[in-house]
Amino acid sequence: MERRGKIYEGKAKILYETDDPDLVIQYFKDEATAFDAKKRGIIERKGVYNNRISSVLFEYLSKQRVRTHFVKQLSEREMLVKRLEIIKIEVVVRNLSAGSLSKRLGLEEGIPLAEPVVEFFYKNDALGDPMINEDHIRLLNLATPQEVTAIRKRALLVNELLREFLDARDVILVDFKLEYGRHHGQLLLGDEITPDGCRLWDKKTLEKMDKDRFRRDLGKIEEAYQEVYRRICGEAA
Ligand code: C5P
Repeated sequence: MERRGKIYEGKAKILYETDDPDLVIQYFKDEATAFDAKKRGIIERKGVYNNRISSVLFEYLSKQRVRTHFVKQLSEREMLVKRLEIIKIEVVVRNLSAGSLSKRLGLEEGIPLAEPVVEFFYKNDALGDPMINEDHIRLLNLATPQEVTAIRKRALLVNELLREFLDARDVILVDFKLEYGRHHGQLLLGDEITPDGCRLWDKKTLEKMDKDRFRRDLGKIEEAYQEVYRRICGEAA
């Protein structure tokens, strides 16, 4: 698979064209940002860990019949994926209170939620990714009502599958963000599933093993990503 021109450079990944118009390469960088990119840094080898973690999780989900953009891992930092027309919605699923949910509703962090909570955010950096509801999605024409129904249902299934997978590795899936897109009209799970976009806590110690270590200056950031890599990929880094 030949890597061609750059299509887009994001905060943590670069997308490249290939010789196949239906396929693109996702390249994972070490750069980390938080708070609308006001905070920036490098997490050593994050790109390598995230590419592998995401590949393993996409492979697992694909085996469970979840439709994703993942094709295969190409190298340490590159993943081959189907080209998507990205839907500009960030889908967050939560199992325990944390982050913006705790802040918005005045809930202490770490309270188990009776049912998973699904939230939608408008993927728009200039607006700071505001929370939106299904009426806003219709108003902005971001997705059809049928797509929103499917996204919600699929995100909840992904939650169940990931929770089970991570629980077996002594990791609590507190919350996470997904993105969906269209490939020849077919709805596919896109982007990545990594400690950049998931809150992962150690089951025994409740220690944070995700980007909150960077956001909140908790230290031992690389070590946390490496440990998630070890537990999910079963490989020494
Ligand atoms: O900040 P908040 O509590 O809303 O984040 C919920 C989940 O979504 C967290 O796991 C966070 O890492 C992820 N997220 C993300 N990208 C964003 C916002 C949130 O990956 N732009």
